[in-house]
Amino acid sequence: MTNAKNKMSQTELSQLYQRHCWQPFTQMKLAPKPIWIEKGEGVYIINEKGERIIDAIGSWWVSIYGHSHPALIHAVTEQMEKIEHLIFAGLAHEPAVRLAQRLSQLTNHHLNRVFYSDNGSTAVEIALKMAYQYFQNQKAVTRQEFISLGGGYHGDTIGAMSVGEKGIFHQVFEPLLFPCIRLPKPSCLFRDFYDEREALKQTAPVIQAMETVCREKGKKICALVLEPLIQGASGGFCFYPPVLLRKLHEICQEWGIFLIADEVFTGSGRTGSFFACEKAGIWPDMIALSKGLGAGYATFGATLTTEDIYNGFYSNDRSHTFFHGHSMTANPVGCSASLAGLDLMEKDSLLRKTSLLEKYHHTFQKDLSKGPLRDKIREFRSLGSVGVVELQHNASYTSEFGWKVMQKALKEGVLLRPLGNVVYLTPPYCIKEEELQRVYLVMEKAVVDSL
Ligand SMILES: Cc1ncc(COP(=O)(O)O)c(C=O)c1O
Repeated sequence: MTNAKNKMSQTELSQLYQRHCWQPFTQMKLAPKPIWIEKGEGVYIINEKGERIIDAIGSWWVSIYGHSHPALIHAVTEQMEKIEHLIFAGLAHEPAVRLAQRLSQLTNHHLNRVFYSDNGSTAVEIALKMAYQYFQNQKAVTRQEFISLGGGYHGDTIGAMSVGEKGIFHQVFEPLLFPCIRLPKPSCLFRDFYDEREALKQTAPVIQAMETVCREKGKKICALVLEPLIQGASGGFCFYPPVLLRKLHEICQEWGIFLIADEVFTGSGRTGSFFACEKAGIWPDMIALSKGLGAGYATFGATLTTEDIYNGFYSNDRSHTFFHGHSMTANPVGCSASLAGLDLMEKDSLLRKTSLLEKYHHTFQKDLSKGPLRDKIREFRSLGSVGVVELQHNASYTSEFGWKVMQKALKEGVLLRPLGNVVYLTPPYCIKEEELQRVYLVMEKAVVDSL
């Protein structure tokens, strides 16, 4: 018999893993054995032999403050000692209110209402349902359809999958999904990211498609859903220019369509501003946040929206209630972790830090372009803390290439997880220049040895 206190041998652990565990996005029959990690410290995860591995992907883009940060641990334990959970219906607590105020402030109070949940998919589901019901409450019952950007990823629940790209992740579930009008996937050379004229030319198919849909059925659409500026999981870390986001926002406003910005990945400072939407100078109607918000110290999500949308539900008519909730909604520990994270962001000037990381990415990518991969790169991209190396190599999500790179890099003490032919870096913001340089060197060798 084992209990939580008995330390298990590596063999025992492996046997139990094989017998009882099932990992996400993993063909368990073909996957290599997992790497066992015992603890984390800042940018490092540490295995049972005490070997330190740089977490260059922030553990699925969640760990933005680094692992086991004393300030966050303190906030979480302090909150746990007060109360670990509370039904957030009819009862309320200070961390939820303080966090809602902070998030509202971060949008300059444009989005001043916060609906809490517990992960990225639910934060998006809530936005979709909110947009849909808003129009039902207004008796604008014909506004029932959604538009999304081709190449988007919004999570794995049914609604989030419906507005996401079909592709390898979701195609099997297609019969279960509701219809969604998909615009083309934006495509723009990164060198023209800030060149508005050139960027508009390259992304014209997206704008034209949006205009056509609106002319045909603009009054039937309730919302456009997109990941602002960086399309991560399905898009292959495709970057699209701020001017496209601005243009889509303009069209939405013209037709009375809500814009839902899924900032689950891009939010919490990832791109150098707290929200990626700020880079385009827009405020959408809803923002979905998760990942970096709780930063792994608690599972946490939030959907931000405007007073106007809130007022669409505020009524003497109880049927206008937003009937949605999760057991863990506004969990006090999640709220406290998020608040402590926001304090840290201010205290350590982390937005400035992510802008600095963008410079380091740029420098190290330049170095890469002079090395053995020089003829094998399709494009380098960097924005805030995110660095992307897109290879010409023809590898898909399911090909061996990614696994090989991951295994080789792990042996050299770096955690990478390529998406097809894209090797991306989303490290905790506390990564140092020399650590990031090491990541690039290891990446170079791992890729060269895997091609
Ligand atoms: C943009 C975006 N939206 C939503 C999600 C779903 O978040 P979660 O995995 O927490 O449900 C993800 C996850 O990667 C994401 O990148």
